Amino acid sequence: MTGMTEHVQPLVMHVTGARPNFPKAAPVLAALADLPVRQLLVHTGQHYDERMSEVFFRQLGLPAPDVNLGVGSGPHGAQTAAIMVGLEELVLERRPDLVVVYGDVNSTVAAALVAAKLQIPLAHVEAGLRSFDLTMPEEINRLVTDRLADLLLVTSPDAIAHLGNEGVDPDRIHLVGNPMIDTLLRHLDELDVDSARTLVGLPPEEPYVVATLHRPGNVDDPADVAELVAAVHGVADQVRIVIPLHPRGRERLQAAGLLDHERVLAAEPLGYLEFLALVQGSVGVVTDSGGVQEETTVMGVPCLTLRPSTERPVTITHGTNRLVTRAQLPAVMAEVLSAGRAAPGTTPVPPLWDGQAGPRIAAVLARHLGL
Ligand code: UD1
Ligand code: UDP
Repeated sequence: MTGMTEHVQPLVMHVTGARPNFPKAAPVLAALADLPVRQLLVHTGQHYDERMSEVFFRQLGLPAPDVNLGVGSGPHGAQTAAIMVGLEELVLERRPDLVVVYGDVNSTVAAALVAAKLQIPLAHVEAGLRSFDLTMPEEINRLVTDRLADLLLVTSPDAIAHLGNEGVDPDRIHLVGNPMIDTLLRHLDELDVDSARTLVGLPPEEPYVVATLHRPGNVDDPADVAELVAAVHGVADQVRIVIPLHPRGRERLQAAGLLDHERVLAAEPLGYLEFLALVQGSVGVVTDSGGVQEETTVMGVPCLTLRPSTERPVTITHGTNRLVTRAQLPAVMAEVLSAGRAAPGTTPVPPLWDGQAGPRIAAVLARHLGL
């Protein structure tokens, strides 16, 4: 064509890498697919086992990543640096109009640093969460990412207050709800509790608790691991407990005798649908995961979080979550078991956790891109 400028749609680059990123990114990619933008999905390769990564792409209907940087595991500095090296090259080559990052993992902060230094506008999905515990690598990742982001997309009102206290311009902050909950609500009908029970070898009918444990504060130090195993056994004295073991800490938990109790049932990390089906059918959950605190809140399943703090207090004030120490866990579980689960739909749910966060996020991004 002569004398005419071809109109090129803006390019949005999504950076994902670890298990919790995938259910957050899926609704944003889906909502943007209806708009005149091009999308590039990057997987850093931070998580790489089929059960930590590929299964989510399959089950959540995510497109295959356009690029996988294949960085793999390593100490924080090496892993974050490897992601930055790979991404910098890619960003320079593809020149996106916007980079979107999710949550609080090393892939998130690495991408934020690259985008900011190359002066590419940056959007952070799940901004403003704070545990105020700088011993958590995620808290460092959140602080840095939010400081650099141009658009801060927040899941709950407390996040707005934290960002305000840190001096972030209110015009950049958008309360959009929780995209992880979009994904949960979209797949709720597909959860098959009976099949999930069979998959992990649970006897029919018997009540059970599900546990997920992977925070360094619980599984890295042998003294913590010993306490954790004692706490889990204290639960298993009362009820069967199924634990899909995250690769972090798997060996240490097993070496500390986790499986030396007849009512502890270990499993490989589960696919998204199988895991949430198990949660759905359980009498309660024990976890140190971020996302699981949110999912149990929406599902109305009691959640005992084995951490001294949470960056998601809304799951306590508007949900089913309680913080417990390892020493408290068996006694608090006894309370949960005697109270039983609340009738479906009777526990509170945080505002805007309604399945429409993806379209709200897409609308904010589209405005920023001038669409
Ligand atoms: C990371 C995130 C954490 C998040 C978690 C979700 C950071 C700093 N931490 O923690 O916030 O809650 O993911 O699951 O980003 N490994 C495998 N296979 C894999 C991936 C990891 O075996 O596919 C093993 C490796 O031994 C690795 C270890 O797990 O060293 C830890 O992986 P890493 O990604 O560094 O941190 P996570 O503990 O998974
Ligand atoms: N999850 C899963 N299989 C499992 C354990 C967790 O699919 O065996 C899902 C869980 O439902 C949630 C996400 O993984 O959607 C949370 O990831 P994780 O706990 O690893 O990370 P965090 O949220 O703590 O950062």
